Amino acid sequence: MLLLGIESSCDETGVALVQAQAQGVPRLRGAALHSQVAMHRDYGGVVPELASRDHIRRVLPLIEDVLQQAGVTLHEVQAVAYTRGPGLAGALLVGAGVACALAAALQVPAWGVHHLEGHLLSPFLSADPPDFPFVALLVSGGHTQLMRVEGVGRYTLLGETIDDAAGEAFDKAAKVLGLGYPGGPALARLAEQGDAAAFALPRPLLHSADLDFSFAGLKTAVLTQARRLGEALAQRRADLAASTQAAIVEVLVHKALAALQRTGLRRLVVAGGVGANRHLRQQLDAACARRGVRVHYPELALCTDNGAMIALAAAMRWQVGAWPPSSPWPAFDVKPRWPLEEVALAG
Ligand code: KG4
Ligand code: ZN
Repeated sequence: MLLLGIESSCDETGVALVQAQAQGVPRLRGAALHSQVAMHRDYGGVVPELASRDHIRRVLPLIEDVLQQAGVTLHEVQAVAYTRGPGLAGALLVGAGVACALAAALQVPAWGVHHLEGHLLSPFLSADPPDFPFVALLVSGGHTQLMRVEGVGRYTLLGETIDDAAGEAFDKAAKVLGLGYPGGPALARLAEQGDAAAFALPRPLLHSADLDFSFAGLKTAVLTQARRLGEALAQRRADLAASTQAAIVEVLVHKALAALQRTGLRRLVVAGGVGANRHLRQQLDAACARRGVRVHYPELALCTDNGAMIALAAAMRWQVGAWPPSSPWPAFDVKPRWPLEEVALAG
């Protein structure tokens, strides 16, 4: 099965081709990505209307690029997967429209994939793929969740953020520090030169009995600290960045370990943009090594949004016998808000 995947939920247009056999980990045949970061930078964040228009401009050339990489023609594609949600409605509609039109023309199925399922399964494309079952720590710009994952489509939510996502906390703190958009990677870079113990920032819900997170208060604490420093902030930015990163990472590590303990599972999968964070990886690796827990990450390039994870999620669903529900062509829809549990498979 040769699947084309299209991701357009936010500010990256991602396209990829994945080849799947009935069994075994699907193989990536080609991937191309266009990031809109440079375009949105002037506005300090993603402008939805500009994002949609740019997806329109990029998606077809990117599809041609991946077909060429794989040395196949469009007519060899056997299913077209696209991100159906969650994400920006207009941006999602571009990928959905192109995917459904292509699928109709090729007379192959169009497959609306859940963006978070893509993130969650993305470590299967790494050199060290996990085995089921595992605990997944999903940390992106819009979501922070701990899931128990028994298999493809078998997900149980263990805990999630009650306000901001971890990526959002990075981005908002970065804004306070004047680092602009996208804030997470910039804050992480600055933090490398700072002292993580310089400022005592709150670790919200660190010792709560549940597996939930809360990051909204952290942003306020960073803002208060920045105001207190006034002009001195210029010299202390790296310290404040390092202290912020340490606070976010400590909570993520603590709750991930608690989820492992509660489920009795000995495998952790980390996915989503914040999974690219070096400090998080170091801390998780060290903590899990002490407990004999294996940790799996996606390749760095597949941590943030990409088309490969969308094609992969469809491929892995096909392998377990799931097939997209046929929609009355030519209708299609997107789901800007879409809980992951809604795509659970029976059994
Ligand atoms: O998964 P993703 O690409 O998009 C969403 O689905 O949201 O995640 C983007 C988020 C942003 O908040 C970004 O700041 C954060 O991931 N991020 C990072 C790093 N790289 C990306 N946060 C901290 N450290 C990083 N190295
Ligand atoms: Zn994402």
